[in-house]
Parts: sequence; structure tokens; C-alpha cells
Amino acid sequence: MKDRESVALITLEGVEGAGKSTLADGLEDLLLRCGHRVLRCREPGGTSLGEAIRSAVLDPGHGEVSAWSELFLMLAARAQLVREVIEPALGRGEIVICDRFLDASTAYQGAGRALGVDRVRELNRLATGGRWPDLTLLLDLDPAEGRGRQTEAPDRMEQEDLDFHRRVREGYLRIAREEPQRVEVLDARRPPPELLSVGWEALRRRCPGLGLRAEPPVA
Ligand SMILES: Nc1ncnc2c1ncn2[C@@H]1O[C@H](COP(=O)(O)OP(=O)(O)OP(=O)(O)O)[C@@H](O)[C@H]1O
Ligand SMILES: [Mg+2]
Repeated sequence: MKDRESVALITLEGVEGAGKSTLADGLEDLLLRCGHRVLRCREPGGTSLGEAIRSAVLDPGHGEVSAWSELFLMLAARAQLVREVIEPALGRGEIVICDRFLDASTAYQGAGRALGVDRVRELNRLATGGRWPDLTLLLDLDPAEGRGRQTEAPDRMEQEDLDFHRRVREGYLRIAREEPQRVEVLDARRPPPELLSVGWEALRRRCPGLGLRAEPPVA
């Protein structure tokens, strides 16, 4: 098993369509080329229970869903993901790249639904047993621009109006201001190859235990 320094939990955050999955693909590819073992997961989901919660919570067919119900469903999915998938992977010496994680609840339910950023952060601490990301890449984008990039039918969260998504964006930026040592803000208007090299540099700098080189490996 690799020592603790050479493992990391990296999370990708941002409004819908910001480019999280695209950047996760790129980083995974580079890390694999460097010989690291990588585990990818997404939230809500990533476990059998979590995917069932995802279907329920994103389904637009449930009528009015209480913000508190939404929050606790997200926390339940997260509690399962951390214990069933993330902790074991870190224990095996793998780098975990998670497409959305605890900041999504802080931004969407804490700020977007106005349940309170500090309160949700504390509930996150309980749900994750204190597991916090080593690095979070926040893809910052005007939600209108993110919406314009989407091709699939909108789910329940995506159907919310732009004011909701603007509060989410502001919530994310507040987290970045409050935890600058963890959260790196990337301008998501930049093209994917540029975001990949900025993301790589952030990973190299903030997770020195990974021993990454300045020049990412070429294909
Ligand atoms: N930096 C970028 N500039 C322009 N378009 C991009 C960029 N990154 C990704 N895209 C395109 O925007 C769309 C959404 O990208 P992606 O699926 O990576 O976003 P996402 O943040 O994962 O979205 P979601 O929140 O819906 O999961 C895709 O069609 C993708 O090709
Ligand atoms: Mg995605």
C-alpha cells in the first residue's frame, strides 16, 4: 500500500455544464499515464444505494420536494459513498476523483435553497465522518452559459430558475474564499485543454505527496 501522502481525494465542483466531467476525464487520463491508480465516482450516486437516491432526488415527478428532504437525501448518499467506496479506495492507495462532493450540498442546499452554508457544512462533517477533500477544483461559470452547453433533458435541479443557480454559484465562491488552502477556482470559460493544464498544476502544487511533474505526460 502507498503511504498516506501519495493518496488524495480530489473533487470537482461547479454549476451544471461547467465542465466537471470533462476535466475529470482529462485528469484521470493524465494520472493513469503517470502510473497512479485512480478511482472515479460521482455524487449523488457511486453506490447502489446512492444511485437509487440519485434517481429519486433528481426525478422531476415528485411534486414539491422540501429543501430539507433534498439535503438529507444528498447526505445519505454521501455517507454511503464515503464508507463503501472512498475510504476503501484511499486505503488501497488510490487517487479518488469525485465529480461533485460535499461542497455541492453547501452550495445547492445551503446557499441555493437558503438552508444556511455553515449549518450544511457541519452536517457534511457528520455525513463524511470528517473526510474532507485534499483539493477541490471549482469550475466557476455563469449558470446561463452552463445551461447553454447542456444537451440532455434537464433534471429536477437543472429545471430551477437562473436565480437559484446564481445563488449556487455565489455559494461555491464563498466556500472558495473561506477555504482557499483547499479550493482552487478555475475560470470555466477557458477551453478544456487550458483547464486541464491549470488543474494539473493545482494538483501538482497542492498535493506534493503525489510527486507529479510540472510537465503533464503526453499522449
Ligand atoms: N471548457 C469548456 N468550454 C466549452 N465547452 C465545454 C468545456 N468543458 C466542457 N464543455 C462542453 O460542455 C458540455 C458540458 O460539459 P461537462 O459534461 O463536462 O459538464 P459538467 O459540469 O459535468 O455538467 P453536469 O453538471 O451536467 O454534469 C459538454 O458538451 C462539454 O463537451
Ligand atoms: Mg457531469
